[in-house]
Amino acid sequence: MNRLDGKVALISGAARGIGAETAKLMIEAGAKVAIGDVLDERGRETVRSLGVGALYHHLDVTQEESWQEMIAATTARFGGIDILVNNAGMFLGKGIEEASLGEWQRLVAINMTGVFLGTKLAVPALRERAAGTPHGSAIVNLASIAGLVGSQLDPLYSMTKGGVTLFTKSAALEFARKGYRIRVNSIHPGVIQTDMGEQTFTARARNQGSNDVEAARKVALSTHPIGRLGVPNDIAKGIVFLASDDAAFMTGAGLVVDGGLTAQ
Ligand SMILES: NC(=O)c1ccc[n+]([C@@H]2O[C@H](COP(=O)([O-])OP(=O)(O)OC[C@H]3O[C@@H](n4cnc5c(N)ncnc54)[C@H](O)[C@@H]3O)[C@@H](O)[C@H]2O)c1
Repeated sequence: MNRLDGKVALISGAARGIGAETAKLMIEAGAKVAIGDVLDERGRETVRSLGVGALYHHLDVTQEESWQEMIAATTARFGGIDILVNNAGMFLGKGIEEASLGEWQRLVAINMTGVFLGTKLAVPALRERAAGTPHGSAIVNLASIAGLVGSQLDPLYSMTKGGVTLFTKSAALEFARKGYRIRVNSIHPGVIQTDMGEQTFTARARNQGSNDVEAARKVALSTHPIGRLGVPNDIAKGIVFLASDDAAFMTGAGLVVDGGLTAQ
C-alpha cells in the first residue's frame, strides 16, 4: 500500500517542515527524491540525513530559470520525474490594513506563481514518465484549510491558498482533457507544528494585543476537535497517498487533514 517503488519525486520547499518529512516518507516508500529550497544549508543537511536516494538543489520557486535548473538536475540524476509536490509556501500573519503591497506581492510570488511555474515547467517530464506507467504521474499541491474557509488571522494567505485549491481542480481538468495522464490533487492541513505553525501562533497573539505565544497555541489547539495540533507526519502520509497509485482514481480532489477543524 502507498508504495512509490521506482518513482522520482521533486518536492519544493523541503529543507524543513512538511516537505522534509514528505521526502523521508517517500524514500521509505521506495522513491528517489529531489529537494529544492532557498535554505541551502538546511536543505543539504536534510539530504544528508536522507541518504543516497535524495538530492538537494537550490530552488527559488518564484523564478522560472531556477525551476528549469532544478528540473534539469533532477532528470539528470534520477532519469525523470513522476511526482511533483508544490510544497514551498509562506505565511504573512498580517491583516488587510497592515499588509503592504510589497508583502502581498511576495506572498503571491511564492504561494501562487511558484505553483504555476512548477506545474508548467514540470509537465514535459511528468508526461514523459506517465506514458510508460500504468497510472500516470501525479502533482500534489499544498493548499490549506485557509484555502477552503476564510481566515481572520491572515486573509491574504487565505486568498493565495484559495487560488491553489481551484488551480488544482482546473489543472486536473485541463490535463485530463489533453490526455496527459497527470493527476492533480491538493491537501489541506489544519495547524501543523512547523516553523510556519509557530508563525501562526505569533500572529494570533499579536492580533490579541499580546505576546503570549503559549496562550495563542492553546487557542489554536482548541479549534481542533481531535484534541491536538498536527505534526508534519500527519500531512506527509496524506501526500504520499495522493502521489501513489493507491490514489489512481483521484484527480481534482482536496484531501482535508485538519483534526476536524473545518467539520464545525
Ligand atoms: N504549518 C501549517 O500549519 C500549515 C497549514 C496549512 C498549510 N501549510 C502549507 O504547507 C506547506 C509547507 O509548510 P510548513 O509548515 O512545512 O512551513 P515551513 O515554513 O517549515 O516550510 C516552508 C518551506 O518553504 C521554503 N520556501 C519559502 N520560500 C521559498 C521559495 N521562494 N523557493 C523555495 N522554497 C521556499 C522555506 O524555506 C521552507 O523550507 C506550505 O505551502 C504551507 O502554506 C502549512
